[in-house]
Amino acid sequence: MNEFKEIRPTTFNEYIGQEDLKRNLKIAIEAALRRREPLEHSLFYGPPGLGKTTLAAVIANEMGVNIIVTAAPAISQKKDLAALLTSIEENGSVIFIDEIHRLPKAVEEMLYAAMEDFTLHIMIGEGAGARPISIRLPMFTLIGATTRAGKVSPPLRDRFGMIFRLDYYKTGDLIKIIRRTANIINVEVTKDGAKLIAERAKGTPRIANKLLKRVRDFAQIHSNNRINGEIALRAFRNLGIDELGLSKEDREYLIMLIKKFEGGPVGIDSISTALNEEKDTVEDVIEPYLIRIGLIKRTKKGRVATGNSYRYLGLTKTPQRKLFDE
Ligand code: ADE
Repeated sequence: MNEFKEIRPTTFNEYIGQEDLKRNLKIAIEAALRRREPLEHSLFYGPPGLGKTTLAAVIANEMGVNIIVTAAPAISQKKDLAALLTSIEENGSVIFIDEIHRLPKAVEEMLYAAMEDFTLHIMIGEGAGARPISIRLPMFTLIGATTRAGKVSPPLRDRFGMIFRLDYYKTGDLIKIIRRTANIINVEVTKDGAKLIAERAKGTPRIANKLLKRVRDFAQIHSNNRINGEIALRAFRNLGIDELGLSKEDREYLIMLIKKFEGGPVGIDSISTALNEEKDTVEDVIEPYLIRIGLIKRTKKGRVATGNSYRYLGLTKTPQRKLFDE
């Protein structure tokens, strides 16, 4: 059985947090339903794991329509987009495209007309015999998601009627999410246990749920399937996750920045080479939380370690240099 599917909320009532965004979306949905129109095309942006895909599924469910879920890397050519859009069967369906900033230019341009007047312009045949045809599509709602709003091209961005930013979750909301998931996966969690997991989840529900499952493994073996503070702490010690929720990879990033590059500024290319990680992973997954909690800064010249970063690693910012050789 796929637990992942089960633990995802399917209604606004079940979806915890992001209150401002939910309030605005509920109004837009209610109004669209009353007009018997599809919801306007919407763009969600924010760090990974905050629930953009989940939210798209909630919207489709609340609108009472189907959802087709895909991601930009699966739409590398115009014919992929044509296949996707012609597979819409029901008026008002939601098409969810993750990582939408990665669509190739030619695909994006084809998407514009589809978004504006639900028409697909394609060429039939090749060479001298080629001719353009237009295919009328059912009306649909495009929901795009991206970790980088700045990378969505302005003409595409302008075609979304609504643009929402998802924020990191507060500890209180993560505690609710953890308790809800614990209930679904049948594990008992104490207040202390839930709080400890929430505090180390980097403000991110996907991480909270992942940590809960790792701690559950521990609880299953060591404490009769009951997660309390002590078990959670033991699990985190084993997983190498500290009080700030930072993992070994996060610490490696900071140590590299300080020891290898003297605290920066250093460019993203050098960082990704030094860590042997993809640039996108560094920029979208590792750095956002380090920035958020004030351990690093992105400047025009590159990444810089803050004073907090030195303190976190137990280092002093200005190493005492000897003036003279002894
Ligand atoms: N699981 C992941 N994100 C969630 C959210 N916002 N509310 C409830 N459960 C979730």
